[in-house]
Amino acid sequence: MPLSQRWTLTRYLIEERRRFPTASGDLNALLLDVSLACKAIARIVAFGQLDDGLGSAAPPQGGAVNVQGEVQKPLDVLSNQIFIQMNDWSGHLAGMASEEMDAPKQIPAAHARGKYLLVFDPLDGSSNIDVNVSVGSIFSVLRAPQEVVDSGRDVTEADFLQAGATQVAAGYALYGPTTMLVLTVGNGVAGFTLNPNLGEFMLTHRDIRVPADTQEFAINSSNSRFWEPPVKRYVDECLAGQPGPRAKDFNMRWIASMVAEAHRILMRGGVFLYPRDSKDASKPGRLRLLYEANPIALLMEQAGGRASTGRQPMLGVKPTELHQRIGLVFGSKHEVERIERYHHEPPAQERGNPLFADRGLFRN
Ligand code: AHG
Ligand code: MN
Ligand code: MN
Repeated sequence: MPLSQRWTLTRYLIEERRRFPTASGDLNALLLDVSLACKAIARIVAFGQLDDGLGSAAPPQGGAVNVQGEVQKPLDVLSNQIFIQMNDWSGHLAGMASEEMDAPKQIPAAHARGKYLLVFDPLDGSSNIDVNVSVGSIFSVLRAPQEVVDSGRDVTEADFLQAGATQVAAGYALYGPTTMLVLTVGNGVAGFTLNPNLGEFMLTHRDIRVPADTQEFAINSSNSRFWEPPVKRYVDECLAGQPGPRAKDFNMRWIASMVAEAHRILMRGGVFLYPRDSKDASKPGRLRLLYEANPIALLMEQAGGRASTGRQPMLGVKPTELHQRIGLVFGSKHEVERIERYHHEPPAQERGNPLFADRGLFRN
């Protein structure tokens, strides 16, 4: 398609806004600022080890440790700063929260405050930086509580504890062979590819849909001894392939950048699991609800896929903590539904019991 016929991200946002004649344009301006942060991070990631100061590896003494107990790499910290600098001045935000900050970030007194909250993982998959594998940024936009907007007071952790279903917009940038921005403003999912000559995100994927069925799954199977029985059952059945109960062969992928797995699944289907497990009793899952699970869940649902804790739809979960971890399953609808069903079915020994047999009492 000739360049002149392609929509820019700006045009897409303007066309979307036309659906709401009274909209102020604040959300669009906010999303363009976020996209600029992503472009800046993409440039830095692309220079890799050429930038001695930054280097992608952790400093020799080891980096600082974030609130997650994870070592922060210089690029984690820098990406976080870029998100803040591109967004704290515009007057669209009441506050921000990120994986890399213990507490919410206040909008400086010198700047106006707005009606939205921005929540982000500035660099997802950062363990992959050293090995030159795709990383990305994930973001979620929430409305600030009206009382925060009216009073202009500082934001607190509680202001961010909103179920994923209330997200106004969500998306991610993927720093891969091409840089892409994938976005939902609540009307499907659109994908934009960064044209490096223009420095513009151009609409290349107009209405991304996740196929309902798949033969591809993604899970870190080194954790298998910690899995709960429904997850073990699901994976065992996939591995059993053609002769097994699923009667088809499955393929497996694990990139260790959730944002890259989400992108693969949006492009060709699949299912991703980082379920709750028994590895560390203090961590009910590996991934974080507010800035990893919820934005990806909204994208999946908007693309016709599904996202779940394994037990319930992710977007219905009421958060209790800013950095809450949660089991996450997302992707092709029928697979996610199957995994949820396995979580609600009785354990194997009971399923073998005549009471649970096909014509048994407890068959649902
Ligand atoms: P982050 O780099 O933001 O801390 O997130 C990394 C996450 C996620 O991207 C990925 O799916 C997962 O960690 C990988 O976990 P394992 O190391 O257990 O494979
Ligand atoms: Mn992450
Ligand atoms: Mn991160």
